[in-house]
Amino acid sequence: MRTDSTNYMWWMSGVFVVLTLSFMFNVWGDKRDIIQHPLTEEKHFTKQPVREVKLEPTLYQDGYMYRCNDCHKNIEPSTVQKSFFSAHPDIVLEHGANNYCLTCHNVTNRETFTDLNHNEIPFTKSHQTCLQCHGPIYRDWEKGVHGRMNDFWDSSKGEIRKLSCVACHDPHQPKFKPMKPAPGPNIQNLRKYLQDLTTEEHSHE
Ligand code: HEC
Ligand code: HEC
Ligand code: HEC
Ligand code: HEC
Repeated sequence: MRTDSTNYMWWMSGVFVVLTLSFMFNVWGDKRDIIQHPLTEEKHFTKQPVREVKLEPTLYQDGYMYRCNDCHKNIEPSTVQKSFFSAHPDIVLEHGANNYCLTCHNVTNRETFTDLNHNEIPFTKSHQTCLQCHGPIYRDWEKGVHGRMNDFWDSSKGEIRKLSCVACHDPHQPKFKPMKPAPGPNIQNLRKYLQDLTTEEHSHE
């Protein structure tokens, strides 16, 4: 019994000596380089939504600014339902079964939107057009469950601001396109970024 365990101890010491020597002489090659992850880009810290909301019923064409009705008061609305009009080449409608411009745009006054009862909705309240068909999401949004809340939870510091639906969803192609995942957090620059942000905010005052 005793000789067995003594033998065993000798064997183990031998193994450790061999291991020590092999590490000393780098038998398995050089050490791996330390991976330098890139710093997280500043755009991942900003509070900016993905879209800029259009609040004015205006259109720029060839360097001139038009109101929608400058043209539309003289144009008969199209009699065919189409998802593309060459007069508005930037806009291609891909909104599921909602494939008609005039479910949202007002047929008689193009500088407003419409609900299904033909009430006028101003450009500043475009979320009311979405309400007609996305009731449950709209209710979630009103309560702050859908679409993130911005600014302050603590009401003594300021108000909570809700983003409009179209600050995140393009009304014409509302489905989010697949996104590239952001890199893992490497936020050594977070402190610097937050500092810049606070000095910026102070300089607005
Ligand atoms: C420079 C002239 C011009 C301006 C400005 C203009 N449009 Fe148009 N728009 C047109 C023409 C032309 C058509 C095509 C009509 C057709 O083919 O029947 C059109 C078609 C449309 C349609 C498709 C439904 C329809 O009427 O047949 C919508 C919706 C629309 N415009 C919305 C707008 C909105 C909203 C604005 C302002 C933000 C605007 N337009 C500004 C010229 C204009
Ligand atoms: C789901 C509702 C909805 C439908 C359907 C819709 N629009 Fe719009 N459209 C909007 C909203 C909301 C805005 C303004 C908000 C924004 O873009 O920030 C807008 C803006 C526009 C503008 C001005 C935008 C710009 O970038 O200058 C034009 C022109 C326009 N739509 C044309 C059309 C045409 C043409 C169709 C059909 C092919 C159509 N829209 C279908 C909701 C809709
Ligand atoms: C006339 C009805 C109608 C109106 C108005 C409408 N939608 Fe939709 N929306 C639909 C339909 C139908 C679909 C397609 C659903 C599907 O394909 O499963 C859809 C799809 C969507 C989707 C994509 C859902 C997904 O599958 O990821 C979003 C986001 C969306 N709408 C947002 C909006 C916003 C924002 C507005 C207001 C600017 C709006 N919708 C106005 C009917 C409407
Ligand atoms: C702060 C950004 C933001 C705002 C504001 C916002 N949404 Fe969304 N919405 C999203 C995101 C992100 C998703 C999930 C997209 C995905 O999974 O591809 C989404 C999903 C949706 C869907 C698909 C839901 C489903 O179950 O498939 C609909 C419809 C929709 N939003 C409508 C709206 C409407 C209507 C409003 C305004 C009342 C609104 N959203 C406001 C960001 C927003």
